[in-house]
Amino acid sequence: MQRLDVLHPSINEYLLDIIPNRDEVLTEMEAYARERRFPIVGPLVGRVLHQLVLLTNPTRIFEMGSGFGYSAYWMAKALRQPEARIICTDGSQENADQAAGYLARGGIVDRIDYRVGNALELIDATEGEFDIIYNDIDKDGYPDAFRKAIPRLRSGGLFITDNMLWLGRVVTYDTNVDVQGLDEEEEWVHKTTVGVKELTRLLYSSPDVFTTIIPLRDGVSVAVKR
Ligand SMILES: C[S@@+](CC[C@H](N)C(=O)[O-])C[C@H]1O[C@@H](n2cnc3c(N)ncnc32)[C@H](O)[C@@H]1O
Repeated sequence: MQRLDVLHPSINEYLLDIIPNRDEVLTEMEAYARERRFPIVGPLVGRVLHQLVLLTNPTRIFEMGSGFGYSAYWMAKALRQPEARIICTDGSQENADQAAGYLARGGIVDRIDYRVGNALELIDATEGEFDIIYNDIDKDGYPDAFRKAIPRLRSGGLFITDNMLWLGRVVTYDTNVDVQGLDEEEEWVHKTTVGVKELTRLLYSSPDVFTTIIPLRDGVSVAVKR
């Protein structure tokens, strides 16, 4: 399967070189992700999340697919309202336990309410509006994430999604293939790419949001609810 670098590798390296060093906890989380080959957003998109929180000064954030807390850590460090909280969600208890240690060491554990389960069900089970919903779950769930998230955002709220260029598969992979006879890995590529492309269509065709995909790392979309 052909993979495209979203950014030219030298430009990516340049951008990684010019950003300041991260604190000890984030540095350790990045090393842990490298060792385990765990897909975190990384510092370039982490900084975008931090900046969007600084810009919008939210009090309620819902994160779908929190892993061991790296993206939530970037957002939590930018919260300014004393009552501001992030509801983190993930299907894995092990990730939640791992996150608890890092978030405590970062002094932000009080900002986080970490729930284990399916994010698409947990959002339904949580009352109220959100200022930001950040989506990083399995890609075949992306269209459902949109349908569940947009009605739950306040007007002017943000729906942010990672991996919207999906290692270039949005252009290299033909989603019109005959799915009969695909092996397990091909089937995964198929359903995840279909999920990313369907979310893209929704983000640009829905009258409820105004969207931009920022081609940093693997592509991050920012949609503002009208
Ligand atoms: C790409 S990782 C998240 C990384 C994290 N956002 C970060 O950058 O630090 C995706 C995570 O979503 C979780 N996940 C996938 N689908 C999910 C779902 N439907 N509900 C809850 N968690 C899900 C996986 O267990 C995994 O930890």
